[in-house]
Amino acid sequence: MSVGFDVVSLASAADREAELEELRAGLTGAPRELQPRWLYDERGSRLFDEITRLPEYYLTRAERSILRRDAAEIARLTGADTLVELGAGTADKTRLLLDALAPRRFVALELSESALARSSKALAREYPATEVVGVAGDFRRHLALLPSGGRRLLAFLGSTIGNLTPPLRARFLRDVADALAGGDAFLLGVDLVKEPARLLAAYQDAAGVTRAFELNVLRVLNRELGADFAPEAFEYAARWDPAAEWIEMSLRSLRDQTVRLPALGLELGFAAGEPMRTEVSAKFRITGIAAELRAAGLGVTRSWTDDAGDFALVLAERL
Ligand code: TRP
Repeated sequence: MSVGFDVVSLASAADREAELEELRAGLTGAPRELQPRWLYDERGSRLFDEITRLPEYYLTRAERSILRRDAAEIARLTGADTLVELGAGTADKTRLLLDALAPRRFVALELSESALARSSKALAREYPATEVVGVAGDFRRHLALLPSGGRRLLAFLGSTIGNLTPPLRARFLRDVADALAGGDAFLLGVDLVKEPARLLAAYQDAAGVTRAFELNVLRVLNRELGADFAPEAFEYAARWDPAAEWIEMSLRSLRDQTVRLPALGLELGFAAGEPMRTEVSAKFRITGIAAELRAAGLGVTRSWTDDAGDFALVLAERL
């Protein structure tokens, strides 16, 4: 018998205001920066899915190999009957957790409503004994609004946590701790520090998919906010910051130019060569992330790495 699926949206007018305010602050700051959420429209989500299959992008394969080997143990340790995935994307690796947990309920929180509707429908068909709930929302804003009840495992995979800067990361982890009830658990995927050359290659693929993904953000701002960015007047660059231990991705202006954003009442002057940071992707050490979790009130129960030691899954619960 099929339990079916449901898609609900959490986005409010106040969230929209807050997003626009953050965007304004980022665009007018020095150096300029964008928030990652603008990367993930329909086309951005599809391009990101393509990134996860690139030869240079080892992260997804490494994380999947851990799940393939250890999902059964994760299921045994957590005893979860509800799986909640934050930033689920196409919910591709999720199947390994669903197979191991056979949960009563699966909740997918995802920005892209189209990706959400597609994956919820497919999963409801493939897992007829599991109730599938697609929640359109932002893991930075909506953790407290997620459905409660049951014994939940919150999963945040793909090293997406590395796309939050340290203050936002600390706040996110505190929100996770607040959202967990006794008996709930948190499963976190983190990419580990390694040779810069391999890290850089993962964010500068030979086929140019990452470049297309990054430049797409300008099209999103044009469409959603009436901006007039000329994507061909910017180039994509990634660099490794050894002090922060993160990859920094940015778009550089190829010439002096003025860009208008009517929705924000802004006119931005870019000098030739001026960068706009689109995203960071922090890399972690197990001891470091355990300390960050502890500072947020979360204790590590277990961690696993893939055979090459490239990527880690960390299981934590409320202290
Ligand atoms: N969470 C992913 C990561 O940091 C997101 C990502 C992959 C990404 N490739 C990207 C973000 C390129 C921006 C640009 O690895």
